[in-house]
Amino acid sequence: MRAVDIIQKKRDGGELSSEEIAYLIQGYSRGDIPDYQISAWAMAVYFQGMNARETGDLTLEMAKSGDQVDLSPIAGIKVDKHSTGGVGDKTTVVLAPLVAAAGVPVAKMSGRGLGHTGGTIDKLESISGFSVEMDRERFFAQVGEIGAAVIGQSGNITPADKKLYALRDVTATVESIPLIASSVMSKKIAAGADAIVLDVKTGSGAFMKTLDDSIALAQAMVDIGTHLGRNTVAVISDMDQPLGFGIGNALEIKEGIETLKGQGPKDLEEVSLILGSHMLVLGGKARDEAEARAILKSHIADGTALEKFKQMVDAQSGDVTQIESPDKLPAAKRLIEVKAAAAGYVDGIQAEEIGIAAMLLGAGRETKESVIDLAVGIYLTKKVGDAVAAGETLAVLHVNDAAEDKVAEAESKVIEAYRISSSPVVPPPLVYALVT
Ligand code: URA
Repeated sequence: MRAVDIIQKKRDGGELSSEEIAYLIQGYSRGDIPDYQISAWAMAVYFQGMNARETGDLTLEMAKSGDQVDLSPIAGIKVDKHSTGGVGDKTTVVLAPLVAAAGVPVAKMSGRGLGHTGGTIDKLESISGFSVEMDRERFFAQVGEIGAAVIGQSGNITPADKKLYALRDVTATVESIPLIASSVMSKKIAAGADAIVLDVKTGSGAFMKTLDDSIALAQAMVDIGTHLGRNTVAVISDMDQPLGFGIGNALEIKEGIETLKGQGPKDLEEVSLILGSHMLVLGGKARDEAEARAILKSHIADGTALEKFKQMVDAQSGDVTQIESPDKLPAAKRLIEVKAAAAGYVDGIQAEEIGIAAMLLGAGRETKESVIDLAVGIYLTKKVGDAVAAGETLAVLHVNDAAEDKVAEAESKVIEAYRISSSPVVPPPLVYALVT
């Protein structure tokens, strides 16, 4: 077999065999096939696409390229949840304890933030002492005892995807549905989930800006999961404005705690209930979504979801008193109100701009080496559909040590992110579709 023949076949619209895909990925992982040939192949895939079988084969090859976590020592159906990423998305903080309280084990490996704001692991680290590193035995034992553990991705998971993703990033081949779908799903398969709930974001702050593209990506991922024997469903949720009010690590933990108490923002609560319901159904703890929703709501109402979060924090060496009194979480020194120039109704909040503004304040990483400030971020006081008077506060910047020029830039980004209309606005739906 020769890489050049496989590239040519895909360039001309042919279907690659399982052996050809294995040859490319294994050869690339070993370093036998150079970057320039894989770049050419990725570009051929970008233009010609891949069918469900090819995409499934590519996923499996990447999943097999490194460690594959065997979660079978943990009893029950292990359901993973994955979000394609959005601003203010703290659903994992809510769902890990909530779903565990309902009896579905959550053994979650999460990432740090790559984009503008911190990832789940960064958010959890705003709880003093919270440890995201533990060996497999302790990880399994914690899930067995408490029902939930959220740790950083350790070991050598999907090295082929890591190498290919870095190459795609610099060869303009990221935006290919089969390549994105196989990249995401290879990590889920390697992490050992029995079933997967995907939260595919759509809108200005999402990877996929249009509903059609989001549905196509969701369908490709669901098809891969099904092809590889993992029950998979995808929810298409809105990212035309940030989720909840808080953007920034400790601010998001505070909002997660409020949601676990039933006092959080309605959009965050609703998206968490929808995703959590699917997790319960796939985990065999409810017959349908309606039953699952009632179970989840009862765990919020009777305090068992919050109690589960405290148990998880305690088991991971975090300071439980900060969960009991969220005012003890890191807080910024300075609050700066961003005011509306004119009266009207909030018509849109460019989530990506808000994410960048939060990063400028130090909530996210500008480079891989940046150290994030867990206390800073942005708190939105107006969301889409809200009426606003001239001079009224749209959002509050939580600022510590960012340079004044960065603070000024963050402030203008927030102002630019808000679109104000003179006529009343109906907020967008939170969820657009379910893909199964
Ligand atoms: N996220 C991933 O993990 N992979 C992609 O290709 C795109 C987004």
